[in-house]
Amino acid sequence: MKFSKALIQWYLQNKRDLPWRNDTNPYTIWLSEIMLQQTRVAQGLPYFLRFTAAFPTFFDLAKADEEEVLKLWQGLGYYSRARNLHKTAKQIAFEFNGEFPKSYGELLKLKGIGEYTAAAIASFAYNESVPVVDGNVFRVLSRYFDVETDIASTGAKKEFTQLAAEVLPKGQANLFNQAIMEFGALQCVPKNPDCGICVFNDSCLGLQQKKVAQLPVKSKKIKVTNRFFNYLVFSDENDKTIINKEPKKAFGTICMSFQYLKRKWQKVTSLFWT
Ligand code: ADE
Repeated sequence: MKFSKALIQWYLQNKRDLPWRNDTNPYTIWLSEIMLQQTRVAQGLPYFLRFTAAFPTFFDLAKADEEEVLKLWQGLGYYSRARNLHKTAKQIAFEFNGEFPKSYGELLKLKGIGEYTAAAIASFAYNESVPVVDGNVFRVLSRYFDVETDIASTGAKKEFTQLAAEVLPKGQANLFNQAIMEFGALQCVPKNPDCGICVFNDSCLGLQQKKVAQLPVKSKKIKVTNRFFNYLVFSDENDKTIINKEPKKAFGTICMSFQYLKRKWQKVTSLFWT
């Protein structure tokens, strides 16, 4: 059986029941994709449910205060994702007459939406024929087709996008893209995949070549930089920490704003001198 047909069949039998898969609403698909960047499904799911309960539509999100949005994001980290999401929701609601962009090209113009997210929304919501290429897709394709291209190299994204586009079945971008990502997340996992039970164990070139553990090739080592921060922690007379939210994007850590410190300092000096 052809790769894409077998993959979709596997997906329909094995997929997880996830709320953003129950309809083709571009807003909830967008939200899920942003939440699932750097976050596992199990961790992201309760956030998704709370967020969509508070903001069922992107209009509700657009009308919300940033504070409210960040509160619901608290614990997920990478808060710029929430800020961009909020800004873009406002842009769609108030500048685009409430019309959610309907194509990959239009989605790509939005702040916080890159190639991967635009492809995910365009294919899951509108069934547009664009391939998604994330870590799962690199792994599945490199193993199945025995592609040794270093996925950290400059041309890799283009090469894998082309390969994914070639195997993407006409009119089934939605199913195929979800299927390949799910297959990478559940079956073709990074470490010790159980190839004995895999539907592709008679056709996977990586398996035939005994290269599953070596694929995908990723040469560049992640550069680890040690960073050291010094903190001043201010307490009031009751030993309660005095904190103030940083007004602009900083290191993502709660720290005392310069303005606030300046005010405190002025207060101290005025007390001192008067
Ligand atoms: N990870 C990223 N996007 C996902 C999706 N749509 N479903 C499951 N896991 C994901």
